[in-house]
Amino acid sequence: MHHERIAILDYGSQYTRLIARRLRELGAFGLVHGPGSAASEIAGKDLRGVILSGGHMSVLEEGAFGLDPAILDLGVPVLGICYGQQLLARDLGGRIHRSSRREYGKALISVGDEESLLFRGLDSAQTVWMSHGDHVEEAPPGFTVSARTEGVPVAAMEDRVRHRYAIQFHPEVSHTSHGNAILLNFLHACGLRLDWNAGNVIEEKVAAVRAQVGQGRVVLGLSGGVDSSVAALLIHRAVGRQLTCVFVDTGLMRKEEMAHVQEAFAPFDLDVRWVQAGPEFLARMAGVTDPERKRKIIGATFIEVFDREASRVQAEFLAQGTLYPDVIESSGVGGAVLVKSHHNVGGLPDSMKLKLVEPLRDLFKDEVRRVGLTLGLPEDMVWRHPFPGPGLAVRIPGEVTPERVRILQDADAIFIEELKASGWYRLSSQAFAVLLPVQTVGIMGDERTYENICALRAVTSEDFMTADWARLPPDLLERCAQRIVNEVKGINRVLFDITSKPPATIEFE
Ligand code: XMP
Repeated sequence: MHHERIAILDYGSQYTRLIARRLRELGAFGLVHGPGSAASEIAGKDLRGVILSGGHMSVLEEGAFGLDPAILDLGVPVLGICYGQQLLARDLGGRIHRSSRREYGKALISVGDEESLLFRGLDSAQTVWMSHGDHVEEAPPGFTVSARTEGVPVAAMEDRVRHRYAIQFHPEVSHTSHGNAILLNFLHACGLRLDWNAGNVIEEKVAAVRAQVGQGRVVLGLSGGVDSSVAALLIHRAVGRQLTCVFVDTGLMRKEEMAHVQEAFAPFDLDVRWVQAGPEFLARMAGVTDPERKRKIIGATFIEVFDREASRVQAEFLAQGTLYPDVIESSGVGGAVLVKSHHNVGGLPDSMKLKLVEPLRDLFKDEVRRVGLTLGLPEDMVWRHPFPGPGLAVRIPGEVTPERVRILQDADAIFIEELKASGWYRLSSQAFAVLLPVQTVGIMGDERTYENICALRAVTSEDFMTADWARLPPDLLERCAQRIVNEVKGINRVLFDITSKPPATIEFE
């Protein structure tokens, strides 16, 4: 049931994830492994090739990550990129030039080998993206030098008999003009079918869930976000009503959130328990102002409520919408791991002893979206912005009261409605309103007002680790401000946040 795959050994380059992305765009299933992986860990009937990623170390320094020589005997083609190239050169008898200086940026290579497999069908002069210190000075025996640059004598080398290929530059970075074509040439050498796409992923995942779950019962926390929604539909397709979803309305969700999610799932025969726990959550938030305490209370209450419902199901399995980036990140593979994943309210007590079902574990977000669309999840659910587990509580600095939640929900709904109407919702990665606990003077009609400030935040971001503020047009902002002040009682002033992350965070708390 396993898809033919390419193993990517991650030596810590910030681009490793991109290699996996590119392969998948080309129809090949790439999976990332740790730098010291043994041949036995990546071997398998479904293995078709190995890629050694770039990395920030020098292969000549002590303690540098190495390569299990048995990987070269697995009988599949190997492609070394940057650090990966130097590893191959070092271990196979080439010579490496050590440099303390990093070269970074675009370079021009000239391809000088008509027989080259990597450059088959491509121009002889190409722009590539380099980011390296050391470089290979002399290729190992058995290799032909297939490309060079002015400063790098071995920009690419190939041993076509043993199917070992290596390049100094990064084909996965979009600045490399023929990067995809080079990767595709390598994939052809690997001889795998280029048939990875959302459609056949579904059938494979469905079969895998059936095999894992058998006749067991599965419980899933449905938040209405993309990940849990797609996981729910996929598992439902596999085991039907053996799946029970629990939707907990924390009272801290967006305006009419539960109704919206109910509507989206109405066409499916899903078993969902809709739990209205708002009053329980809000009662426990009374008087609490510290952001971390708020998060803890909400997290603990969520687990309590979820546990209460889930234990009625007598499930053997707990389903989660874990995605591949979370897996790469939490397994601490390579050096591209950034500090962060402080969130997720989803952790459950060990006492539940449930086995995990995670059908999206090796999918990227865009793949999950495609699966969702194919399974019939409505577009506006598929393209939803992420929403934090603690919900509006982290968008109400200070004490969270039912009244403040109501005001914020109304303001947020107007902002989102205007963003959608203008096309800016899809152009932003995340957008929302925040209710500041600051009152200022205003004037409405003939009367002075003394009410709260609403801040609007809209950001663009690749991975939410860094973000820039979305350049919303002034007339759109003006419309939002006018409508919010006129339609939402309790707000008399609207601000737009133009801070990037870092130094600010996306949320206000
Ligand atoms: P920050 O504010 O850290 O947010 O820049 C980055 C991303 O994480 C989301 N976020 C959270 N998600 N629980 C969550 O499930 C949380 O406590 C939490 N705090 C922030 C935030 O919405 C953004 O997408």
